Amino acid sequence: MIQENISLKQYNTFGIDIKSKYFIEVSTVDEIKNIYASNIGKKILIIGGGSNILFTKDFDGMVLKNAIKGIELLDGNSEYSLVKAYAGEPWHEFVLWTLTNNLGGIENLSLIPGCVGAAPMQNIGAYGVELKDVFISLEAFNIDTLEIETFDKESCDFGYRESVFKNSYKNKYVILSITIKLSKKPIIKSTYGAIEDELKKMGLTAPSIQDISKAVIRIRQSKLPDPKKLGNSGSFFKNPVISKSAFVEFQKEFPNAPYYQTDDLYKIPAGWLIEQCGWKGKVVGNTGAHAHQALVLVNYGNASGNEVWELAQKIQQSVYDKFNIEIETEVNVY
Ligand code: EPU
Repeated sequence: MIQENISLKQYNTFGIDIKSKYFIEVSTVDEIKNIYASNIGKKILIIGGGSNILFTKDFDGMVLKNAIKGIELLDGNSEYSLVKAYAGEPWHEFVLWTLTNNLGGIENLSLIPGCVGAAPMQNIGAYGVELKDVFISLEAFNIDTLEIETFDKESCDFGYRESVFKNSYKNKYVILSITIKLSKKPIIKSTYGAIEDELKKMGLTAPSIQDISKAVIRIRQSKLPDPKKLGNSGSFFKNPVISKSAFVEFQKEFPNAPYYQTDDLYKIPAGWLIEQCGWKGKVVGNTGAHAHQALVLVNYGNASGNEVWELAQKIQQSVYDKFNIEIETEVNVY
C-alpha cells in the first residue's frame, strides 16, 4: 500500500526526521514490477535498512523499502554450501543464520547494520573480510526492461566500498538477492589486529567461527554507537587511498600515522586524520564525531540532515587543510 507524506525518521539509522511524498514497503518482485510499470515509478529511491543514508531534505518522489525476505540453502558438497539470501533480510540476522548452520565466511562481517540488498552495493567489509571474498552472484531487477538479470562477481566490479551499482548502473537496478559460497571447513581470519587482541582478552586460542563473530561483536560494540540508541550511519567517510609518492611525502611529516598498504597504494584511516584535526568526541549542536571512533558522525537527538552535512563538510575541509588529503563520503547524501 502506498503511503503519502510520511516521516522517514524510523527508516534511516541517522534518525533524521524528513518526509517522503510517497512510501511503499514491498515484499515481492511483482510488487516492484507494478511500481516501476506504473506512472508513479518515476522518481524512486530504494532503501533497505536505511543505514547508509543521510537525508538533508524532504524527498519529493517515492521511497521504496525493499523487504523481500528469505534464506535458501542451494547447492553444496562436503566442502562448501551455496546460500541465497533475499535483499530484505537484515544482514546480521543472515550472519547469525550462517553461524547456526556452521558455515564459515562472513563471521567477520557480524553486526554490520543494514540489509542483504545493500551489501553488494558497496561491497561491505570489516575486520579483514569483504563481501566479494564469498560472493558468487546476485539477481537484480532492471527498472527499464522490468526483467530480472543475474550478475556474476566480475560484472559487479567490486572495489573498496564500491560496485558497478554505485557507479555506471546507479539507479538502474533493484537488487533482489545474493548468492554466496560458504565453507564447511572454515578458515579462521583473525589476523586483523583488533580481533587477535579481543580473542586474547576472551581467553580463546583456537577460535571457532562463532567465537570470531563474538569477538567482532565485542569490538564493534565497544567502538561503534548502536544506531537504536544514537543515530548514525557507521563510517561517514571512506578511508582515503593515496599513491606511493604522496604517501612518502605524507609520512615524512606524519611518521606515526597508521596505514594499510596494498601494492603501490596506501590507505590512511580517516578516523585518525579526523582525530588529529581535533574532532573526536566534539559535540557541535545536535551532532558530532563519536568519542570512540571519529569516523562515525552521530545525531544526539534532533539533528537535521543539513546540520550533519555541514559538520561533515567542515571536517573534510580541516582534513584537507592539515594533510592535503581529500576524504570522500561513504554514506549517500540526499
Ligand atoms: N583511528 C584513530 N582514531 C579514530 C578512529 C580510528 O586513530 O577515531 C585509527 C585506529 O587506531 C586504527 C585505524 O584508525 O589504527 C583504523 O581504525 P578501525 O580499525 O576502527 O577501522 P577504520 O579503518 O576506521 C574500517 C571500516 C569500518 C570497519 C572497520 C573494521 C571504512 C570506511 N570503515 O574503519 O566499516 O568496521 O574498518 O574493519 O573502511 C562502515 O563501513 O560503516 C564501517 C564501520
